[in-house]
Amino acid sequence: MYSVLFVCLGNICRSPTAEGVFKSLVTDAGLSNQVFVDSAGTSAHHVNEAPDPRSQQEAKRHGYDLSRIRSRKVTPNDYEKFDLIIAMDESNLNNLKSFKSNAYDSKLKLFLKDFAPLLNIHDVPDPYYGGAKGFTKVVELVEHASEGLLELIKAEIKSKSQKYI
Ligand code: 4NP
Repeated sequence: MYSVLFVCLGNICRSPTAEGVFKSLVTDAGLSNQVFVDSAGTSAHHVNEAPDPRSQQEAKRHGYDLSRIRSRKVTPNDYEKFDLIIAMDESNLNNLKSFKSNAYDSKLKLFLKDFAPLLNIHDVPDPYYGGAKGFTKVVELVEHASEGLLELIKAEIKSKSQKYI
């Protein structure tokens, strides 16, 4: 099983959106039994809360259901367990680095920079204190980078399966 953890600050806006969008892409690609997708926050502020109603509504408008996701904080075990830990912005990437030794640095990624480099945008902007447009932008950016991420994982799965032939 290939495993991916999306990380933002509160785990109620950006990373649950990424979890919902990417799970949907993985399912559509027929890979749901080969790719595990989860999300978490670097802060414990919203633990056990469902995604922000504005994120849920915007995701639903695009065909994604976030209603069963509950916020949790990143744990030390996540660094062992996941193949990729993908931060939504540079500030959370720095938070992730500060929690652990640099032994895990190769697993830590920045979502837009690493999987949608042509956009030339590094951060998925935090929509929490802004208006509705910010939530739409999150879904659009997340959809874009999710395509890039899926291509990489497909290649990874293919190269692993060839090793065992
Ligand atoms: P998220 O958004 O990191 O995308 O889940 C935020 C949610 C809550 C807060 C900040 C960002 N907050 O300050 O409570």
